[in-house]
Amino acid sequence: MERGRMMIQGFFFWLILVFDLVLRTSGNAEGDALSALKNSLSDPNKVLQSWDATLITPCTWFHVTCNPDNSVTRVDLGNANLSGQLVMQLGQLPNLQYLELYSNNITGTIPETLGNLTELVSLDLYLNNLSGPSLHLSAD
Ligand SMILES: *[C@@H]1O[C@H](CO)[C@@H](O)[C@H](O)[C@H]1NC(C)=O
Ligand SMILES: *[C@@H]1O[C@H](CO)[C@@H](O)[C@H](O)[C@H]1NC(C)=O
Ligand SMILES: *[C@@H]1O[C@H](CO)[C@@H](O)[C@H](O)[C@H]1NC(C)=O
Ligand SMILES: *[C@@H]1O[C@H](CO)[C@@H](O)[C@H](O)[C@H]1NC(C)=O
Repeated sequence: MERGRMMIQGFFFWLILVFDLVLRTSGNAEGDALSALKNSLSDPNKVLQSWDATLITPCTWFHVTCNPDNSVTRVDLGNANLSGQLVMQLGQLPNLQYLELYSNNITGTIPETLGNLTELVSLDLYLNNLSGPSLHLSAD
């Protein structure tokens, strides 16, 4: 009887460990991608102050929205007085639908990895200082 209870407790302990590990690793990949963006930007108005890389997921950060599975769906940083450059790690947000970075002072090029954002609904980069090949959007 006692032995059976200990086995059940041991099983639940193991289950919690595995679940915790899964949450941490899946959460951190997206948090790491957004932390890379933060580190690449200058943020005089401190809009990224809540972006604490030590949290298990980025879902509690301001200007970040997640789905119920704690995967990032929105990054809303329009008109935030940010400067600096975009990072290729942005391509590592598989459920990202809205990337709003309009009206900042972002320079450099648009990372090709954004092509991996298959769920993207809106990509707003207007009113920045981006350079590189211009997009050819007309069907000819
Ligand atoms: C860009 O930077 C300049 C100089 O710091 C500033 O005056 C301007 O308001 C900034 N523009 C945006 C959209 O943040
Ligand atoms: C934007 O940041 C610059 C410094 O980089 C600062 O001089 C300016 O006042 C800021 N503009 C706004 C609207 O916060
Ligand atoms: C998309 O992601 C895959 C796997 O992470 C990577 O190998 C590939 O280079 C990426 N493609 C682009 C365009 O970034
Ligand atoms: C962005 O580009 C505008 C127009 O070319 C320029 O006036 C401004 O100084 C640039 N800002 C930065 C931060 O490079």
